Amino acid sequence: MASNRDHQADKHQTGVVPKMLLRTDALYQYILETSVYPREPEPMKELREITEKYPLGMMATTADEVQFLNFLLKLMNVKNAMEIGVLTGYSLLATALALPHDGKILAMDIDRESYEVGRPIIEKAGVAHKIDFREGPALPLLDQLLKHEKNHGSFDFIFVDADKNNYLNYHKRLIELVKVGGLIGYDNTLWNGSVVESPDLPMDDYVMSYRGFVLELNKALAVDPRIEICMIPVGDGITLCRRIK
Ligand SMILES: C[S@@+](CC[C@H](N)C(=O)[O-])C[C@H]1O[C@@H](n2cnc3c(N)ncnc32)[C@H](O)[C@@H]1O
Repeated sequence: MASNRDHQADKHQTGVVPKMLLRTDALYQYILETSVYPREPEPMKELREITEKYPLGMMATTADEVQFLNFLLKLMNVKNAMEIGVLTGYSLLATALALPHDGKILAMDIDRESYEVGRPIIEKAGVAHKIDFREGPALPLLDQLLKHEKNHGSFDFIFVDADKNNYLNYHKRLIELVKVGGLIGYDNTLWNGSVVESPDLPMDDYVMSYRGFVLELNKALAVDPRIEICMIPVGDGITLCRRIK
């Protein structure tokens, strides 16, 4: 987290005052404790706590980000959604809770075992009937969907939170599946902060091995004329892409 002194230095270098609000970790905790946890639906809390203890749980989306997504989906009146990368179903539950009773979400993951960890809570929350979980790599599943004309332009919202090396391959397909006016959200587009070089913030090999793919995706989305984009610094960064043609 940058200090006030860093911000002053930035100002001198660029002449621009950075509009970075989260200057301390305590400020982030303040957001969680003031506006996220007190409003968190009971099943979301339960699944968050189970996921935090799960060995792969650090991959899950943050509580403030799923609150944001749930809010956004309700604003958009999303009825037909898709998620690529489910893990225990934490972001999936946030989406399912935002959909109307007859809403649907197609969820894909190569790992059914992790999904089974969260499934009892999803069932208890009364939203399991909205979820169509498909086990397997997402690319061939998307190609199957594309074979049927009725699926083209049929999704209101698509959340992508899986293998970063395939995001551009997903984008090629998802742009056909999302409706004009609908939204694709690509998660982790700030990729642990590694998208900018920072000698003070050493990155592990795992992060560095995917960094190039995230940079390539960010560049491609920025110039894609079929979408409008907005990169939101929540969680690990999410780029929202609204299909315009
Ligand atoms: C970051 S986790 C998803 C976290 C989840 N969205 C959440 O917020 O709780 C990434 C998931 O992507 C899945 N995944 C990786 N490669 C995939 C692929 N080719 N197709 C589908 N899912 C994949 C992994 O098994 C893992 O569960």
